[in-house]
Amino acid sequence: MMQTLNVELAERSYPIHIGSGVLGQPELLTGCLPRKRAAIVTNTVVAPLYLDKLQVTLQQLGVESVPVILPDGEACKNSDTMNLIYSALLSSRCERTTPLIALGGGVIGDMTGFAAATYLRGVPFIQIPTTLLSQVDSSVGGKTGINHPLGKNMIGAFYQPQLVLADTDTLNTLPDKELAAGMAEVIKYGLIRDAAFLEWLEQNMDLLLVRDTAALQYAIERSCRNKAEVVALDERESGERALLNLGHTFGHAIESGMGYGKWLHGEAVAAGTLMAADLSERLGWLDAGQVARIRRLFQRAGLPVISPDLGVAAYLEWMGLDKKVEGGKMRFVLLKEMGRAVVKGDVPTELLRQTLQACVK
Ligand code: NAD
Ligand code: GLY
Repeated sequence: MMQTLNVELAERSYPIHIGSGVLGQPELLTGCLPRKRAAIVTNTVVAPLYLDKLQVTLQQLGVESVPVILPDGEACKNSDTMNLIYSALLSSRCERTTPLIALGGGVIGDMTGFAAATYLRGVPFIQIPTTLLSQVDSSVGGKTGINHPLGKNMIGAFYQPQLVLADTDTLNTLPDKELAAGMAEVIKYGLIRDAAFLEWLEQNMDLLLVRDTAALQYAIERSCRNKAEVVALDERESGERALLNLGHTFGHAIESGMGYGKWLHGEAVAAGTLMAADLSERLGWLDAGQVARIRRLFQRAGLPVISPDLGVAAYLEWMGLDKKVEGGKMRFVLLKEMGRAVVKGDVPTELLRQTLQACVK
């Protein structure tokens, strides 16, 4: 059965519909498609799987669609690919009222959102996430953007969608490695603010990995509920929203340092979260048993728990480019206890160095 949540952002509020088959339900899209035209931004992997289905749904509403099919992958999340989107929209004469629909994973969602924020200074935007990661995280909350050779997600905008449609059926075609990558962000919610969910994940990880529909829908709904609550409190990340970046300061350094696409985002977040847990232990906040418990859960999900050895200097250099840096000082999301994260600014350099040496291979 479909579940609906609301992201409460006053005049920018929007629903998230989660369930099996929602991609084939035209009535869910009606309010967002006042005109008879929409552009669908997708990629060469997702288009053969789901573009026809979405186009048929739109046809039932009398909406003609302009497909924009991009190359696939994190390595293409850049300004060259953005230009492909802009060129396609301009040459198809898309107007200010023409919605952009993102059909794909987080890479497509982030780029389409940024295109929607900037094309003609802003057009309506709909998220149809098709990976676990994008259904539990990137499609919700309005962070959009692209990578720069000097840093991950460094160019972008806050721009909320009008609707998120998460069809759990699309997860049936997702490779195991990508399902695992999404699990990293699911586990994140348990670690930062939902200890009961963390326990539920420990009890139900096997069911999730065999793609049990009810378990997946529950995990997606609970993740989105957590994210929607945080975003409603702090849309533009002046406080609490930073907690959603547990493991990301280290993880972004891994992604940028290894070269975009070598490590999946979720894999880098998993290994980065173990670094954050290690640092939390060095500060006396977690004990070794709790860090082992976190490690076990990521391992069960099929995720890496040891980071690549970029060298301490390279890690420090990449982490110095983090968006949380304030007044030139690094800030870390760390675990005060299981199920409660905090942002910490004055981490002793020696402890950080120890973590960067202990958690790599
Ligand atoms: P992705 O978009 O690269 O998708 C993973 C792979 O799966 C791709 O090859 C994609 O084409 C393919 N795919 C997508 N749907 C499929 C399906 N149903 N069946 C088969 N294959 C499918 O990666 P992702 O993990 O979805 O997203 C990662 C990106 O999200 C990163 O760039 C990260 O920075 C970003 N992100 C953004 C936010 C945010 O708040 N905006 C949050 C977390 C992550
Ligand atoms: N993924 C982090 C955020 O949306 O804030």
